Amino acid sequence: MRLVLVGPPGAGKGTQAQFIASHFSVPKISTGDIFRANVSEGSDLGLEARKYMDAGDLVPDEVTIAMVTDRLSYDDTGEGFLLDGFPRTVHQAEVLDGMLADGGHVLDVVLELVVDDDEVVRRLSGRRTCRRCGHVWHQDFDPPARDRICDRCGGELFQRDDDSEKTIRHRLEVYADQTSPLIGYYGDRGLLRGVDATGPVEDVTERAINALRRFES
Ligand code: AP5
Repeated sequence: MRLVLVGPPGAGKGTQAQFIASHFSVPKISTGDIFRANVSEGSDLGLEARKYMDAGDLVPDEVTIAMVTDRLSYDDTGEGFLLDGFPRTVHQAEVLDGMLADGGHVLDVVLELVVDDDEVVRRLSGRRTCRRCGHVWHQDFDPPARDRICDRCGGELFQRDDDSEKTIRHRLEVYADQTSPLIGYYGDRGLLRGVDATGPVEDVTERAINALRRFES
């Protein structure tokens, strides 16, 4: 299954991506995670991407597309993948279509996680991420047992630099301007499935997997 997950910042894409990818046995490819790993390593890509990420803006297409083209050339994507955070512009979507067509493939489905702006702000301002294993917690909705310590690995939890309320509001504007046109782009092609992403995480996972049932082997 070749799947794109789309939705505003904080919709729960990263949270759901891990369950969906594991259920369908495909690799999860998150552009945000790849950029953050590069920022942590201090690579040239990370230094370039950080300028945009901290401001809540999109990293330029040429940087992002080169990175995704490289990742999609790995052998583990032969039978499918879940893309979290890419494409984020219609231009990126057109490039993805071309990349897949070159390999004789098409995108199977685009899953949209639907959630309103106030919920996004609540979710992102309380998000805490483990520095060691990358697991994502929420200080109210899914709190770890010990303050600022990951239950899974004992690593330190931190708040992302782009999760201040001002930057979250800007990311929502960027989503509305640059990413939401994808809903029409994929809707017109009959690829879009919308899922209500409010309520407990397990309920959202169940709705998502039900929406993708026909891709089960
Ligand atoms: P990215 O990391 O992709 O950020 P995003 O799209 O803004 O999404 P988030 O990671 O903030 O949220 P999410 O939807 O994954 O939610 P999560 O599951 O964590 O990208 C970061 C930056 O990288 C971009 O701003 C841009 O600069 C750059 N970038 C990335 N891709 C790019 C591209 N293609 N082109 C250009 N630039 C690009 O959940 C959020 C919180 O809510 C967590 O605390 C979680 O525990 C909690 N939560 C989740 N589900 C629920 C629930 N059902 N109920 C209650 N709480 C919940």
